Amino acid sequence: MMMMGKEKDVVEEEINTEEITTSGCSQAEKLEESSSKTEVTCWIVIGERQAARIRSLYLKTILRQDIGFYDMETRTGEVIQRMSGNTVLIQDAMGEKVGKLIQQIATFIGAFVVAFIRGWSLGQTAPCISAIAAGKAAAYKLFQTIERKPEIDSYDPNGVKLDDFRGDRELKDVYFSYPSRPNEQIFNGFSLFTPSGMTAALVGQSGSGKSTVISLIERFYDPQAGEVLIDGIDLKKFQVKWIRQKIGLVS
Ligand SMILES: Nc1ncnc2c1ncn2[C@@H]1O[C@H](COP(=O)(O)OP(=O)(O)O)[C@@H](O)[C@H]1O
Ligand SMILES: [Mg+2]
Repeated sequence: MMMMGKEKDVVEEEINTEEITTSGCSQAEKLEESSSKTEVTCWIVIGERQAARIRSLYLKTILRQDIGFYDMETRTGEVIQRMSGNTVLIQDAMGEKVGKLIQQIATFIGAFVVAFIRGWSLGQTAPCISAIAAGKAAAYKLFQTIERKPEIDSYDPNGVKLDDFRGDRELKDVYFSYPSRPNEQIFNGFSLFTPSGMTAALVGQSGSGKSTVISLIERFYDPQAGEVLIDGIDLKKFQVKWIRQKIGLVS
């Protein structure tokens, strides 16, 4: 195709301008991409660290709970499953997705027209929002456990410690049923006294409550009524950790 001198110049100029615009645009995109990558990376690190913190907090409270908690609320394996499963959801919500969501909202607000033409809309944020909702639900469950204060708290530093510990054991008019089976009464006004130094044998058929006596003396459970006494002092008054150190159990 033949072109007059002036006409040709205009076309060439147009092509050059077009080229500049294209390369300029891709550079800006690259810059935006790398800065957004950095931002999302930071959020991933935050999510990871928070998840690790929540995991260790959760494990600590789980280990602190009384035996009744395990009877009632958790099956074997559930602890680990909750700890890993839920923290992954939290990590996902707190990390990358927050970064992405902020970025997407900023993009949406800042470049509304461009976004509109390119077909970006808040629809893209839906996966982030659902991840955040899932993370919230998971966190609720974990924190419910984390905030649970056990009735029998082996971490509680308060309570009596005796210097002159003898080791008299007494169950006084004890009424007891297990938390998981409140209708099945194991003891109805049961009393038993064995003084320090005395060897006592509990004899009875399987399921008659021998192990339950030991569980009450170890304070794995509290009776609904009556008292468990060590050296004449209510077991509930002792520091749990200290009294458990004084009792040995071989089974
Ligand atoms: N953790 C528990 N939760 C609910 N019921 C229990 C629990 N442990 C024992 N029991 C019930 O309490 C009763 C007494 O059990 P146990 O003290 O273990 O008897 P023993 O040691 O004399 O065989 C039984 O009926 C048993 O099923
Ligand atoms: Mg037994």
